[in-house]
This record gives sequence, structure tokens and C-alpha cells, in this order.
Amino acid sequence: MTFNFDERIERRHSDSVKWNKYPADVLPMWVADMDFRSAPCIINALNQRVNHGVFGYTGHPQPFIEQIVHWLASQYQWHIRPEWLVIIPGVVPGLNLALRAFTGPEQQSIAPAVIYPPFHKAARLAARRQRHAPLRLREGRWQLDLPALTADMDGSEKLLLLCNPQNPGGTVYRKAELEAHLAFAREHDLIVCSDEIHCDLILDPAARHIPFATLSEDAAQCSITLMSPSKTWNIAGLGASFAVIPNPELRRRFVATGNGILPHVDLLALTAATAALQNGGPWREALLGYLRHNRDRLAEAVSTLPGLKMVAPQATYLAWVDASGLGVDNPTRWFAARGLGFSPGEDFGAPQFVRINFGCPASTLEEAITRLRQALVG
Ligand SMILES: Cc1ncc(COP(=O)(O)O)c(C=O)c1O
Repeated sequence: MTFNFDERIERRHSDSVKWNKYPADVLPMWVADMDFRSAPCIINALNQRVNHGVFGYTGHPQPFIEQIVHWLASQYQWHIRPEWLVIIPGVVPGLNLALRAFTGPEQQSIAPAVIYPPFHKAARLAARRQRHAPLRLREGRWQLDLPALTADMDGSEKLLLLCNPQNPGGTVYRKAELEAHLAFAREHDLIVCSDEIHCDLILDPAARHIPFATLSEDAAQCSITLMSPSKTWNIAGLGASFAVIPNPELRRRFVATGNGILPHVDLLALTAATAALQNGGPWREALLGYLRHNRDRLAEAVSTLPGLKMVAPQATYLAWVDASGLGVDNPTRWFAARGLGFSPGEDFGAPQFVRINFGCPASTLEEAITRLRQALVG
């Protein structure tokens, strides 16, 4: 079956956060959703569920749980038990729960210095301190430098927040790198919360996603893994996510922290997420091929433009672009004035960067590249 990723779909009147942020003459390429229609199997499942017409409370989402167990086994050889799963309405709520469940008022978490903003915000919201580990560009990959923190550690650190694949850097961590993170966590007695929401979006054929918890029994017992089909199948507006927590005590604390606060997961979200994992494989394969072209096209274009630098992300549909060569105070504002709506690097901890979302039809990307060229070369 072929899927049409070329179609340009009008989104401005669909209450889209992405398309409503900037004025109409700016191409929005920021927040992490894609401009593609979701997989037909998801749309069919939603139609069927909507046609049923009764939308009462849902119970234990058995079909979703079964599909998660099957997906993790088939994709990552991760054989989980259904009871390890906690179904949650979003990965960000999961990050916030982990922060509150596993750090006390006098304790702190560790997060990458350059990272998806809710990693930092979760600590601020909980009024907890946080240490930031530098993200360094080494051999063409953005890598986390945890040892840089060692000298400052004072025993108040309890939780290590990881993001693999990394947003915004696009890095897919290798086994040895993850093992180094595990050794660091064991040495400092840290619980690890690993956000792996982008794991099904690996673009580099030589890279393989390794769930942190699969490294060893030790890793499984000290970790919370957060995942969701929402990025891959473009159903971010239908929040159905999950945490995998093999350790019963950690699971108990995580669940207790959200009790009575987190809503049940919406039944249409469950319908969409279940269909994605059950029948969305071919659509995902086709999507990855399309995104690889977009990534390569953008990287090639950026390499010819003055003032910009990027490494091709190994995963995600997000490019982390160093705009320091432009010599402007605020690159995001500068680009917005030239018709390009990127994510501000400042939100991720690096004001001289912008993040470009290339999850869009190739013709939209071409338009963006033309605007980039006009802005930078004239
Ligand atoms: C690393 C990461 N975690 C979580 C999220 C969002 O998760 P959710 O929409 O399920 O709260 C995103 C969205 O861009 C992300 O990049």
C-alpha cells in the first residue's frame, strides 16, 4: 500500500498549535507534530469507534496493553509483563510524576543542559533543584557528558532524566553510552527516567534503539521508561502514552503520585494508539523513508548556506541548527521576520540555535529552503 505524504493539508482552521502561533505569511516548522494525515488504519479505527456513538467511562485498556507488549517484543526484543505498564495521558505528565515521586524537596534531579523544555520545567514546577549535564557535539553526534557533573555531586541527586533518542539533538544512544549512563546512575544511586517517545522514529539505518531498561536486570529495576505512539503516528492531540516500570515499589510511588490528579486516558486516544501499534507498521515504514529524504535534503541545503550548521539527526523529524554564525541576537525572531517559524533554541537551553521540524510535505520543505536561501544569500 502506498501513502501520500506529499499532500498539503490546510491546518490553520483546525485549532492547531503549530499553525496558529505565527501570522499566515510564516511557515510554521516548530512544535513536534507533523503535517501529514495519520495512518488510514488509525482513521478507520476512530471512525468505527465514533460510529458506535456511546462514549462512557472506559476501564482497563486491555487491547492497548496487549499491543504494547507485542510491539516492544517485536521491535526491541523487550519482553515486558503487562503489570509493569502504567497507562498515562502524556509523556510530559509522566516526566512530572517521576520528578515528584522520586525527588523530595531537598533533593534534585539531573537533566541534559540542552533538552526538550519540559525536562527543566518539571523541576521548576515541583520547586526542586536540578543539575544540568552538558550536551557536547562529538564525532557528529550530540552526546551527554555526565562525568562533567561528578565533581559537583553532593548526594542530593536522586533522579536522572534521560532522553533517547535525544530531542533536540537527534542522537540515538549506543549500547556502550547507555551502559556508561547506567554505571553513573549506580555509582550515585539514581533512579533513571528514560523518555523514549521518539524511539520508533529512527532514521539512521546504522542506528538501533535500545530501551535503557533492557541493558540489564539492574537497569530494569532502577528505571521508568516513558513511551507513546503519539509522535510516530502523528496523533499527539490524542494523548495515550505509557510508562514501563518493572520495579513494583517504583511503580507504586509513580502511580500514587498521580492518583486522583491524572485523568483516565481518553477512549479515542486509546483507540488511535491501539490501532497504531496493531496495524500501523507499513505506514511507519513509509513515513521513515519520507523523513529520511527530508532530513537529507535539509542537511544538504544547510551545508551550502552561510551562518548555519547542523548534523543530520539519527532520529526524530527535528533538526537542531546552530545559527550562531548569523551574528544576530535572536535567530528565531530573525527567521520569523523572514517567513520561517522555528522553535527557539532558547527554550531548549541554547539561544543561538533553532530547531527545525521537517515532518512536512517535501514541497513545504522546498519552500522553507527557498526562504532560507533568500534570507541568507539574498
Ligand atoms: C522528548 C519528548 N518527550 C515528550 C514529548 C511530549 O509528550 P506528550 O505530548 O505525550 O506529553 C515530546 C514532544 O515533542 C518530546 O519531544
